[in-house]
Amino acid sequence: MERKSILLRISTIAMNVPETVAIIMDGNGRWAKAKGLPRTAGHKKGADQIRTIALEANRLHVKKLILYAFSTENWKRPEDEISYLCKLPGIFFSKFINELMEKNIRVTFAGELERFPKETQKVIRKAVDQTKKNTGLELCIAINYGARREIVLGIKKYACEVLNKERENDLSEEEFSSYLFIPENVDLLIRTSGEERISNFLLWQIAYAELIFTSVAWPDFDEEQFALCIKEYDQRDRRFGGLK
Ligand code: FPP
Repeated sequence: MERKSILLRISTIAMNVPETVAIIMDGNGRWAKAKGLPRTAGHKKGADQIRTIALEANRLHVKKLILYAFSTENWKRPEDEISYLCKLPGIFFSKFINELMEKNIRVTFAGELERFPKETQKVIRKAVDQTKKNTGLELCIAINYGARREIVLGIKKYACEVLNKERENDLSEEEFSSYLFIPENVDLLIRTSGEERISNFLLWQIAYAELIFTSVAWPDFDEEQFALCIKEYDQRDRRFGGLK
């Protein structure tokens, strides 16, 4: 790594680091196409970048990193691409689970896992179980996740509890968050590869998040790119609707 990059990485330590970071990992297909490779090659490199960014987020003491790996809309993709994406968690965890353990990283997931093949479900649940006592970064993989679906499921669960008289019919914003897959507020949302939209990701949780859209494709999004985002976050003036 060049000296400039090392300095940029080190200088982030003194910065205001976001507690919860979410990333829409976009551009795998375009990255591969530009190199004359199949789309799956972009997803493969994209999975390796999960390791890179999780280690860096852990090093910077980010508490939770939420990655959009598979949306409820991604089932519309060709079967061979879906089938490759279903195999990727297995490939990823067999390569990196030891390193995640060494670095004290805890794996969790958000979304309806049940729709995936049994083997995919098994490897994800195994990684969650194996790392459950770790106390460093929480690496949350959003998989078969859609924010509207998450909100509808939360409302259904709440309504059932009221009907069954398990709770009173009153609900604060904070309490409602606990009915979602992801209860935390997101501080920083990053989307790679140039598109500037949210694509049904964390609609409730990003109410006051800082948004960063970068043109860099996810397979090229490395520690240095991540540090640049943290630096930009540090320079933003967050007022949460109030005055300073
Ligand atoms: C978006 O790029 C990317 C995805 C839909 C899949 C992201 C998945 C990974 C990075 C790997 C998941 C691995 C694990 C371990 C959970 P795109 O295909 O939409 O790119 P394009 O917009 O250029 O076509």
